[in-house]
Amino acid sequence: MIVQDTRIEIEKTTNSRLPHTDVNNCPFGKVFSDHMLEMDFIDGKWSKAYIKPYQDLVLSPATMVFHYGQAIFEGMKAYHLEDGGVGLFRPEDNIKRMNVSAHRMSMPEIPEDIFFEGLKTLIDLDKGWIPTNADSSLYIRPVMIASDDFIGVKASKNYKFLIFTSPANAYYTEPVKVKIETNFSRACKGGTGFAKAAGNYAASLYPATLARKDGYDQLIWTDSETHSHVEEAGTMNVMFVINGKLLTPPSSETILDSITRKSVVTLAEQMGIPVEERGITVAELMESIHNGTLDEAFGAGTAATIAPISLIGFEGKDYQLADPKTWKISTKLLKELNDIRIGKKEDVNNWLVRI
Ligand SMILES: Cc1ncc(COP(=O)(O)O)c(C=O)c1O
Repeated sequence: MIVQDTRIEIEKTTNSRLPHTDVNNCPFGKVFSDHMLEMDFIDGKWSKAYIKPYQDLVLSPATMVFHYGQAIFEGMKAYHLEDGGVGLFRPEDNIKRMNVSAHRMSMPEIPEDIFFEGLKTLIDLDKGWIPTNADSSLYIRPVMIASDDFIGVKASKNYKFLIFTSPANAYYTEPVKVKIETNFSRACKGGTGFAKAAGNYAASLYPATLARKDGYDQLIWTDSETHSHVEEAGTMNVMFVINGKLLTPPSSETILDSITRKSVVTLAEQMGIPVEERGITVAELMESIHNGTLDEAFGAGTAATIAPISLIGFEGKDYQLADPKTWKISTKLLKELNDIRIGKKEDVNNWLVRI
């Protein structure tokens, strides 16, 4: 039961779309729930948070976000729990990461307590939109944009913060085909790779489109200086099982600090799986493919959860991996992670937040 925070004002919809929506049958990112949260940063302080019917925004063409790209966002999920409750997975980490992104993009931080309360109140109000299917969930998208009407390159003074949600099926329904990118870069030292900044995604679209034309689903980015080290994929960190050991590059200035990846690392350690968080060279990865020691490869991220990689493309050649259905480690980790997320398994790490 949520006790309403006095800093949150609620206007409920009088025209719910829920009766006409099959929440268990929504493709990822296309259907939006009844309500959204809106909070403005004006004259140096945050306004009240308003939860209101999901609606379009009215913005001036001069709104600074359109021109200079100050925009950051987050992604998390709400689930039905085994005992009938509703849970969020490590939301405090998303809130903290949003503020890390805000700092890098010269935007105001959002007070953690009001973010958290607003989020819980919104999810509680729209809990009817949470799918009940095993592979589905309510995807939650917090976003902040520069909202001044002004032409001229500088940080905006005012900002708009929104949270809206979307019932969604699995992001990937099949194992993914990836290409190791050694020409374009997503992030560089001193840049914004560690922030969940919209511009990072905008810059990734052209190389991703080229890869898609060649039949790949995603890119595996490499470091921008030498293209010799594996970094991460478009919407996930990457993990490999080589010779029975789970390897993953640690988060860094150029790699988003994935909450799923760090959860998987913790779970693997707790399950007694050998783990190494360290730089991985493309040469080492290719060598493991050639000598048959690459047992498994997968992406880790909120949207994709654990997404097995079925094929790796490198320098014009494709390398088909073994059938992911035969993989033991990622399958075990995915089950463990999912069981904790839905409250089926004891949450010894205190990751689950009940609404
Ligand atoms: C670039 C990038 N890397 C990694 C991830 C995975 O992070 P998380 O596990 O926190 O969702 C995401 C998704 O948020 C992403 O966009």
